[in-house]
Amino acid sequence: MKVIVGTKEEVVSQAAQRYVDLLAKKPDAVLGLATGSTPLGLYAELARLCAEGKLSFAEAKSFNLDEYIGLDGTHDQSYRYFMDRNLFDHIDIKRENTHVPSGFVKDDAEAERYDAEIAAAGGIDLQLLGIGHNGHIGFNEPLTPFTSLTHIVKLTESTREANKRFFKSIDEVPTHAVTMGIHTVMQSRSIILMAFGEGKADIIRKTVMGRPEISVPASLLQLHEDVTLYLDHEAASVLN
Ligand code: PGA
Repeated sequence: MKVIVGTKEEVVSQAAQRYVDLLAKKPDAVLGLATGSTPLGLYAELARLCAEGKLSFAEAKSFNLDEYIGLDGTHDQSYRYFMDRNLFDHIDIKRENTHVPSGFVKDDAEAERYDAEIAAAGGIDLQLLGIGHNGHIGFNEPLTPFTSLTHIVKLTESTREANKRFFKSIDEVPTHAVTMGIHTVMQSRSIILMAFGEGKADIIRKTVMGRPEISVPASLLQLHEDVTLYLDHEAASVLN
């Protein structure tokens, strides 16, 4: 794992440069995208660079990590809605080239079709990840099998608690989600994981310095050959 530490602005700018470089070399790159508060700064920077003509997503495709079960794209807490408002509305990607897993899949067999769609698009060139306080990536909670493909998950109470700030009450937070699996993520050619703030410091230490194990899903990224962590000083504060 490569670890880059700086101010949030510095690491956002370095991560954004990865997109500039990738899309210059491969305009039709396949991007794996994430939701949450972590990517917002990067998305704003990508939108700015796109507006300035420094990068174009016109031929790119995207696949998001996850979606809540039961929310359609018009729900303001759906991840489709999040992506439209926070990124796609502000860049030149063609909407038909953007993919978010359906929140209405019935079972895992249907969810796995997302893996087939990713493969048909050529596989993910660059996957962006945030990290949960329990080490989840996407909605792959601790103990998710290493071999998992896109699947339906029951959200842990800690994840529902963490996300309830976006809903009127905890009762409105969906109980299930659909997420790319660990295997799906590990198939990506390159991976960027971003984390900011002191609250992520402990899980970042386990991710980087602990043994790779399924109880800390992000630690499994140690087994991938091209992963870069972009951390602010606070998230990196107990790495030594
Ligand atoms: P956050 O969430 O970016 O809002 O901290 C990250 C995650 O839970 O994966």
